[in-house]
Amino acid sequence: ADDLVILGIETSCDDTAAAVVRSSGEILSQVVSSQADLLARYGGVAPKMAEEAHAQVIDRVVQEALDKANVKELDLSAVAVTIGPGLSLCLRGLDTGENSIDRLSNSRGIGVQKARKIAGTFNLPIVGIHHMEAHALVARLIERELQFPFMVLLISGGHNLLILACDLGQYLQLGTTIDDAIGEAYDKTAKWLGLDLRRSGGPAIEELAREGDPESVKFAVPMKQHKDCNFSYAGLKTQVRLAIESKNINAEIPISSASSEDRSSRANIAASFQRVAVLHLEERCERAIGWALEIEPSIKYFVVSGGVASNQYVRARLNQVVKKNGLELVCPPPSLCTDNGVMVAWTGIEHFRVGRFDPPPPADEAEDTI
Ligand code: KG4
Ligand code: ZN
Repeated sequence: ADDLVILGIETSCDDTAAAVVRSSGEILSQVVSSQADLLARYGGVAPKMAEEAHAQVIDRVVQEALDKANVKELDLSAVAVTIGPGLSLCLRGLDTGENSIDRLSNSRGIGVQKARKIAGTFNLPIVGIHHMEAHALVARLIERELQFPFMVLLISGGHNLLILACDLGQYLQLGTTIDDAIGEAYDKTAKWLGLDLRRSGGPAIEELAREGDPESVKFAVPMKQHKDCNFSYAGLKTQVRLAIESKNINAEIPISSASSEDRSSRANIAASFQRVAVLHLEERCERAIGWALEIEPSIKYFVVSGGVASNQYVRARLNQVVKKNGLELVCPPPSLCTDNGVMVAWTGIEHFRVGRFDPPPPADEAEDTI
């Protein structure tokens, strides 16, 4: 009974994504429509709300995922859909059992409506997925040797989490951000440096930082005096803003029109910001590994995932820390680090296998959900 085919739908942030994945780990299809895509397609008219953007493309994205996989709705074992951005962090496990049905029927999210419609029409079970858990568990699709317990660092636009994953649904939080997440700091820095924001800020900073001197601007590493595993990026954001002001950098002037002197001072800030932002991650990860190994000495792997984990500099630096402390890094390829449907489908498979899913919604109800 372990030959499952699951459709995963992800609409919890900016991207509308869908994918079809097999329980063998085979990715049958993967489709992502980003708002940047939309911007290009509709000639620069940005949809006012992410929700509207999702509604515009959801049918096409899901159909494309099914077509590319060469799968019909009736071939599916279940539909998995992101129902929450959070990760329930208690050792009693994620609450995707009895109570998730209420959240699924209450949610007005575009992805959930679409999932209910398909599941209702074709009589398929639904698996409600937590976004951050999906970021973490997709690592088990990439590395089949990855057994519980393992460590996870999740770095995205909205979250900075250090977790000890004890078992499926059993997560112990070792650290979180007390203010902003690292992705937010990348995005603001990119905006203030006048970078091209048709894609997200992170990749733009990563690229510009390669031209800069990472030692040129002296930013303080956050939370040095706090001997815990929490994060803070609000103070670094302020330091960056002040540095930008003191160099008279004008974000209204796009970097493509900046003088070469102006360009190099922007690159220096990007490189210096990135160095310190990642140093903060390195310090927290090192301490967290120490904590985790005391609780669970059998840990072998350290997973890094979420949008910021697609950054090559981040990956290289964290790889060193993890290796030095005797663990092995597992970092999904960039397309599986940023929001995607594969992680949702895969996490759906993990839950479905152990019986954590909801029965199909009534077919007639599915008719009028969209
Ligand atoms: O996981 P994700 O796609 O969406 C959320 O759940 O938030 O993460 C998005 C974040 C954004 O802040 C984006 O700037 C950042 O990930 N990001 C990067 C890179 N690619 C995406 N940050 C640094 N370097 C990158 N290459
Ligand atoms: Zn995400």
